[in-house]
Amino acid sequence: MTATTISAKGETLAFPPDFVWGAATAAYQIEGAARDGGRGPSIWDTFSHTPGRTADGHTGDVACDHYHRYADDVRMMAELGLGAYRFSVAWPRIQPSGSGPAVAAGLGFYDRLVDELLAADITPYVTLYHWDLPQALEDRGGWTNRDTAYRFADFTRIVHDRLGDRVGTWMTINEPWVSAVLGYGIGIHAPGRASAAEAFRASHHLLLAHGLGARVLRDAGASEIALTLNLTPVMTPGQVSDPDLVPSAEDSEAVNRIDCLINRQFLDPALRGKYPDPVLAIMERMGGIDHIRDGDLETINQPVDLLGINYYTPCVVRSEPGEPANAAYPGSEDILFSGTHAPTTAMGWAIVPTGLSQLLTRLSCDYPEVGLLVTENGAAFDDVVAGDRVHDADRTAFFESHLRAAHAAIETGADLRGFLVWSLLDNFEWAEGYNKRFGIVHVDFETQRRLPKDSALWYREVIRHNGLHRERARRPTLEAVAARAGVSRSTVSRVINGEGTVSDEFRAIVMHAVNELGYVPNSAARSLVTRRTDSIALVVSGSSTEARADDPLFSATVRSATRELEESGKRVTLMLADSAAGRLRVEQYAASGHVDGVVLVSAHGTDPLPAALARTGIPVVSLGRPAVATQTPYADIDNVGGASLAVRHLLARGRRRIAAISGPPDAVTAQERLRGYREALRDTGHRSIIAVGDLTLASGADAMRQLLHDDPALDAVFAAGDLMAIGALRVLSESGRRVPDDVAIAGFDDIEAASYAVPALTTVRAPREDQARAAVRLLLRQIDGGPVSSTILPTELVIREST
Ligand code: FCB
Repeated sequence: MTATTISAKGETLAFPPDFVWGAATAAYQIEGAARDGGRGPSIWDTFSHTPGRTADGHTGDVACDHYHRYADDVRMMAELGLGAYRFSVAWPRIQPSGSGPAVAAGLGFYDRLVDELLAADITPYVTLYHWDLPQALEDRGGWTNRDTAYRFADFTRIVHDRLGDRVGTWMTINEPWVSAVLGYGIGIHAPGRASAAEAFRASHHLLLAHGLGARVLRDAGASEIALTLNLTPVMTPGQVSDPDLVPSAEDSEAVNRIDCLINRQFLDPALRGKYPDPVLAIMERMGGIDHIRDGDLETINQPVDLLGINYYTPCVVRSEPGEPANAAYPGSEDILFSGTHAPTTAMGWAIVPTGLSQLLTRLSCDYPEVGLLVTENGAAFDDVVAGDRVHDADRTAFFESHLRAAHAAIETGADLRGFLVWSLLDNFEWAEGYNKRFGIVHVDFETQRRLPKDSALWYREVIRHNGLHRERARRPTLEAVAARAGVSRSTVSRVINGEGTVSDEFRAIVMHAVNELGYVPNSAARSLVTRRTDSIALVVSGSSTEARADDPLFSATVRSATRELEESGKRVTLMLADSAAGRLRVEQYAASGHVDGVVLVSAHGTDPLPAALARTGIPVVSLGRPAVATQTPYADIDNVGGASLAVRHLLARGRRRIAAISGPPDAVTAQERLRGYREALRDTGHRSIIAVGDLTLASGADAMRQLLHDDPALDAVFAAGDLMAIGALRVLSESGRRVPDDVAIAGFDDIEAASYAVPALTTVRAPREDQARAAVRLLLRQIDGGPVSSTILPTELVIREST
């Protein structure tokens, strides 16, 4: 990777001098004119006309009618200052049945489009295949048929023969993963087939088509050849907010397996001439690899000049033994695909701009020979037309943050040559139909009127300056609206919130200012009457987040808290604070008003975070009692009472030498359970015998060995955690002790495994989910101005065979 220095001129975050700025579209998504000029049907015509396949039965029959309006569209691109335009050629317009002679009208359309672009000084980037396979080829097996790859090579030759004198940059296949997996693997895209084996065959043949097409283009003298992939950084939930987090070995394996399936299954054959071993192993299992013929990988591994990157969102996974495979990722058994707590677009895709810098940096390191081009990046939001403006501040913020991420990658040496927004126009978003709008230009599908959104106007400035302002684009504030309208903040918020208490006259003045300034009443703004963000941070603190992530109770607690918050209409931001830097980040985040309150999951009595958060003045409720020194309210379970319940039960069974296996001494919970044990014994005069574990099964086993060594005559054990109790049970049986006859044993928590233990474990049931819900309720009450208080939930003893 070579380091590129980019000059930081004045106030601008500058991109390299020859950086390409543009926009992208695809034929079926915008052209319409589905039956004009002898165009044949494609798989997307068939699919979208099949009832139930696309949202509201939308089809691409008319789309943006770009086929007839291309000249106006190019004029608009010029006005926006685009340097490049990536479009795709509809194969069935050129060869209606996928093979044979070209149709003059079809080629003529692209011929005129290219001329129009060049006349406007816009560089045409041509994608040869963006998913609209001629139906006739699908009828012969589509991409599961090897022959389709050869037909693609013929089609490539025809198009290059006609446009190659004016088009220098060629992209063979767009997103083979999506084409193969969504189309043939799970059937939510055309042609709607659902078979893992077929998806792998289709992937291979799409790669083969790329290789054959690239060879044709190279032989014909094309100057820049690219393959466009949907690439996604794969990460664990923890890495979303902390990219430096080192995952456990199991999580790393999960990340690697998914990375192989979604990224390296395509990158490695195309750029290295081989499939990653985990992919081959999965293919073998799913239907064999006999579709990979000798010489294929050499064909696929053609030299390419550019790698086209379509980045939207990361893929978040972690190891979860027993989890069935995700159908879109055959071979992904034991992996959980989890959501993130990042904000999302209207597609529900998490917005993680740092994913783009990670991706670019990684690609430049791993595949240094190829230049990088972002061929798609963008977001759907529910846009609102206000007069002749669309104030899509969310989209602008999306692009801005992703461009900052791209800039950061260039600064570390990534060879990024350009950036194309997805998309120029609102268009037919495949299975989502017209309901999801990705354009920087709004399209009224009734009238076909084009209206550049605010993001387009902002992008024009970025292009003009070849960079971004160092200062982030500021959303117009409520204060600015109030100042412009000459009214108070509260009047503005009342108007925005639709309250009937403002006169029509003032309402009109406020709305005028809102429109003039492009003020967007986003969710934060809507809640300005109450000054709320409607977001809550769920902060996991402590030094052993890794260990806790494996703890079933811990995840159940976090899950219940999240569910309860979401059900109350709150957005949840999960944050990890397991280092000083992490704690500082949480503290600053909370202090700067991003959230209305914090639910804190903190394990250690010495954790400084509760005190630090208390100083910010933001409402906080701790899940579990924090250290005595802080006043933070909490929802806890009765650890002391539960432990003493268990020990009194052992006493009632006639046991006299009752040992305890305690949890880590710095954990508040462990201290309390130990206190409960001691209190119960104190009244009887029996002495305490204690060994310490760390809540794991292995530590329970070790502690048990030690206890047997220290006091071979002990007749009962109270373990402050079920896993430790189960570990102890194993050692007892190894040592020939009968449970409960020789030694009775009781645990704490009542995890699922307690009832399966042999013999089944007597334990203290901790109502974890109730505890999480109680914490959330306490917090919400506090935010609503209610009293600040804590709660301790009772525990109960579940008596089974071990006592
Ligand atoms: C990509 C496609 C593109 C568009 C965006 C949102 O996967 O290449 O056509 O649909 O997603």
